[in-house]
Amino acid sequence: MARERTFFMVKPDGVQRSHIGNVVRRVEEKGYKIVALRMMDITNEKASIHYGEHKDKPFFKDLVSFITSGPVVAMVVEGDNVIHGIRAMMGKTNPGDSAPGTIRGDLAVDLSRNVVHGSDSPESAKREISIFFDEHEIVEYIKINESWVYG
Ligand code: RTP
Ligand code: MG
Repeated sequence: MARERTFFMVKPDGVQRSHIGNVVRRVEEKGYKIVALRMMDITNEKASIHYGEHKDKPFFKDLVSFITSGPVVAMVVEGDNVIHGIRAMMGKTNPGDSAPGTIRGDLAVDLSRNVVHGSDSPESAKREISIFFDEHEIVEYIKINESWVYG
């Protein structure tokens, strides 16, 4: 399995509800490596680019307004099959359908307040990482747990 990177973010509701630590803890416990992490306010322009795939949807305006409504915690996370793995940890988009044990299943109830965002494909991951991080902000390092996480 190829080592991948994904863009992962605690949305404004997750920050305001004090879920940063919970979300980061799950990423670390799983065995993934955080290679960039920053709190930021998202500009309207970046939000519109980030959610560009939804620009013609009726909920686009609310989505942009929500994601810019307060600070987020953005991350680049690295690991084998991490794009799919983080999506699985997030749970289904609508927290009403997200399984218990997933982030959304455990921490959210409302479709528009679903705590986290994660890239949904290698193309989105590359695109989203480049929207929110400069290359020099991504740190290359070896973590001492790697030979225990991977066989
Ligand atoms: P995200 O991009 O935020 O990680 O969520 P996702 O891939 O699971 O879901 P996506 O289809 O990309 O939708 C982006 C966000 O838009 C909101 N949404 N509202 N009102 C609606 O029908 C509707 N559908 C989606 C959700 O908050 C979703 O996270
Ligand atoms: Mg999405």
